[in-house]
Amino acid sequence: MTVVIEPMRVDDIAAVHDIERASFSAPWPTYAFRQELESNRLARYLVARDGGRIVGYAGLWLMVDEAHITTFAVAPESRRQGIGERMLLELLQVSESVGAAVATLEVRVSNMPARRLYEKYGFRPVGVRPRYYTDNNEDALIMTTGELTSKEMRGRLARLSAELLGREPGRRESATANGRSGAADGGEVAG
Ligand SMILES: CC(C)(COP(=O)(O)OP(=O)(O)OC[C@H]1O[C@@H](n2cnc3c(N)ncnc32)[C@H](O)[C@@H]1OP(=O)(O)O)[C@@H](O)C(=O)NCCC(=O)NCCS
Repeated sequence: MTVVIEPMRVDDIAAVHDIERASFSAPWPTYAFRQELESNRLARYLVARDGGRIVGYAGLWLMVDEAHITTFAVAPESRRQGIGERMLLELLQVSESVGAAVATLEVRVSNMPARRLYEKYGFRPVGVRPRYYTDNNEDALIMTTGELTSKEMRGRLARLSAELLGREPGRRESATANGRSGAADGGEVAG
């Protein structure tokens, strides 16, 4: 597997939407992705591509000094291979490079795989939005990183990046994401 992380393009939306529908109980419609890519100047969206096949996607909104992760998913058959980590690292690096102080997101309280991933990358619970997800009235956990420029966050990201490189020799290719936003878990704003 040679996975590259690249900006999402309009041509990618159909494949992205297949993953969206497989991943979330309240998927975004395709036009939402198109709108984000074409009209939202605050948005950055990326895809993970494995030999031409899209295996994951993610996005964020860059709002003043905060990066808000809006959507994030890996194709079911491609999970547990570090693709989520690759995409999250890229989002956090993009966020820091444009001057965001912190990154934040909402995640379903029951979504332990995603919570574990975010915790690994320095996100911590800071609050709850009661009944945020209208499909089942589930609460959203709000998770936020420490200061992206802090020694702790920089050290964490450098260590995790090196570990990923070690797992996948010579394969840390990436490009700056483009795109748009929402809330990271298949919910009101995101999938
Ligand atoms: C959450 C998600 C994006 C993770 O993607 P992934 O590519 O499988 O994740 P990775 O292989 O990069 O895993 C990295 C870390 O995430 C955590 N993790 C991922 N899947 C996990 C699982 N099933 N159980 C527990 N921890 C898990 C672990 O901390 C893991 O690190 P480790 O390998 O050192 O244990 C994926 O499960 C997914 O698309 N889920 C459905 C959509 C979704 O919930 N998106 C998030 C919305 S907020």
